[in-house]
Amino acid sequence: MTELLLVGASGLAREVLILLRNHPEYAPIGILDDLPGQRGTTVGGVSVLGSLDEVTRHPAARVLICVGRGEARARIADRLLALGVTEDRYVSLVHQSVEVPEGCRIGSGSIVLAGVVLTADVILGRHTVVMPQVTLTHGDRVDDFVTLCAGVTLGGDVSIGSGAYLGMNAAVRERVRIGPGAVLGMGSAVLENVPDRETWVGVPARRLRAAAGDPLPPEAAAVPPTTVPPTTVPPTTVPPAARPTLPALVVPVLRAPWPTGGIE
Ligand SMILES: CC(C)(COP(=O)(O)OP(=O)(O)OC[C@H]1O[C@@H](n2cnc3c(N)ncnc32)[C@H](O)[C@@H]1OP(=O)(O)O)[C@@H](O)C(=O)NCCC(=O)NCCS
Repeated sequence: MTELLLVGASGLAREVLILLRNHPEYAPIGILDDLPGQRGTTVGGVSVLGSLDEVTRHPAARVLICVGRGEARARIADRLLALGVTEDRYVSLVHQSVEVPEGCRIGSGSIVLAGVVLTADVILGRHTVVMPQVTLTHGDRVDDFVTLCAGVTLGGDVSIGSGAYLGMNAAVRERVRIGPGAVLGMGSAVLENVPDRETWVGVPARRLRAAAGDPLPPEAAAVPPTTVPPTTVPPTTVPPAARPTLPALVVPVLRAPWPTGGIE
């Protein structure tokens, strides 16, 4: 079994642990969280081992950051990098109900929950979180550290900048750009480009709040976009019979009876 450390004693970690239950290859060995007083508590039956510094005690463990806010994930990734956790240590977790068609790609450290639909040529960056029933359509481009809450729907060729947070059931019109660090309120219908770090709400969506004074964490702003062209993604060869036995997908475990895109 491959050891897996989760980072963040959060509701998202509980959801991830449900997907990992009885996984044939990955065993969660603990949760790391910097919040004081967490050590020794349990989340979803798994112990909080202590602060992020504990990661150095488990050099062979793979890592998954389970924190809902993308800017916080970016800060954590930066802190873990300083502790020696390079990008190849991260896994992605994709619910088995999610088809990843050829031409779609999911970056490392991403979490994609049940019922998410990727139609064609959808690119998800690193450390994205895509909650249940999100629909991503042709040509959508979602940069690193983005969070898409449950029920978000993107029209075709939408781009979402790094660290943006789209609240539940937000809908974005085709070809619209959501800037890095922007926030969309629950249920908003976005018809035009949203500038960096602004908060927009409503139907049609209007600006609720200008960009805050504090800048995006440099690691989120500086992360280069995921640039692997969809055409280089090899199809997987996992036999259809393997699929029903997997409670979840943690790369590099691959499953799907249909041709799939890449999941780092
Ligand atoms: C947009 C959002 C970030 C604003 O939060 P906030 O800064 O705490 O703002 P407030 O709740 O103080 O509301 C400020 C104003 O915006 C309005 N507002 C807030 N959210 C709104 C929304 N989604 N749609 C329309 N109006 C909204 C409030 O009614 C209030 O209006 P008022 O000043 O006229 O009374 C938040 O409401 C939101 O939608 N978050 C996403 C939640 C979500 O999807 N969670 C999923 C967790 S998994």
